Amino acid sequence: MKKKVIVLTGAGISAESGIKTFRDSDGLWEEYRIEDVATYDAWLRNPALVLEFYNRRRTQLASVLPNRAHHALVMLEQKYDVRIITQNVDDLHERAGSSYILHLHGELTKVRSTANPELVTDIGYSEIGQGDKCSLGSQLRPHIVWFGEAVPLIQEASELTMQADILLVIGTSLAVYPAAGLVNYVPANCRIFLVDPGDLQVQWIKNLEFIREKAGTGVPDLVDRLLSETDNN
Ligand code: OAD
Repeated sequence: MKKKVIVLTGAGISAESGIKTFRDSDGLWEEYRIEDVATYDAWLRNPALVLEFYNRRRTQLASVLPNRAHHALVMLEQKYDVRIITQNVDDLHERAGSSYILHLHGELTKVRSTANPELVTDIGYSEIGQGDKCSLGSQLRPHIVWFGEAVPLIQEASELTMQADILLVIGTSLAVYPAAGLVNYVPANCRIFLVDPGDLQVQWIKNLEFIREKAGTGVPDLVDRLLSETDNN
């Protein structure tokens, strides 16, 4: 049976594709305030601004491509059972061709009904505006988990993480919960790798190998290494 690799990705894996991270010095949260665009209160207060923020992200997504890190994770499937848990709302793992992707914080290319959260529609890279309605006649909203909202897929993500033989953490500051807490669910003998060019933000992870590199170089190198390990078994 193939070993199970759980991959937790954050904004850093898409940085070299040209998508801004959130908390780096030129990140999105320098340009916008979270409270203005990424909370349910913001949506009630100023839906036009919230829609505009996600419309911009969606339009930009149409013009970028997966990078070497996304592609390397697809190669890893040759010899491992790879499950990606991403905090990213972009679709770059899908476009690279990964088989299993769980979007903890939602997806930019989808919208949902404000009357029934189960009513989710694909909209690709188009914009939505005020007055755009679902089939029940209520306003459409971005299919995004905003700050303060429940994270519906966290249970599934933690159950997956409990089965990890290897955990790869790529390009995330691990500043946002409950996503960051997933790292605590790995079994005791699980090997953990963290790929990030920034300072190590967390000291609480045991068995950690910190690879201080950008995802575009660190991930392909790590994938080569893991693929050659199974050659040696
Ligand atoms: P952050 O912006 O908090 O962290 C990005 C991480 O990527 C940092 O640790 C950077 O050092 C690292 N990084 C930058 N360039 C990189 C590169 N080329 N290769 C690898 N790593 C690189 O983003 P997240 O941790 O993803 O949620 O943020 C988590 C959540 O906070 C997001 O999903 C979003 C945000 O607010 C919501 O909007 C709900």
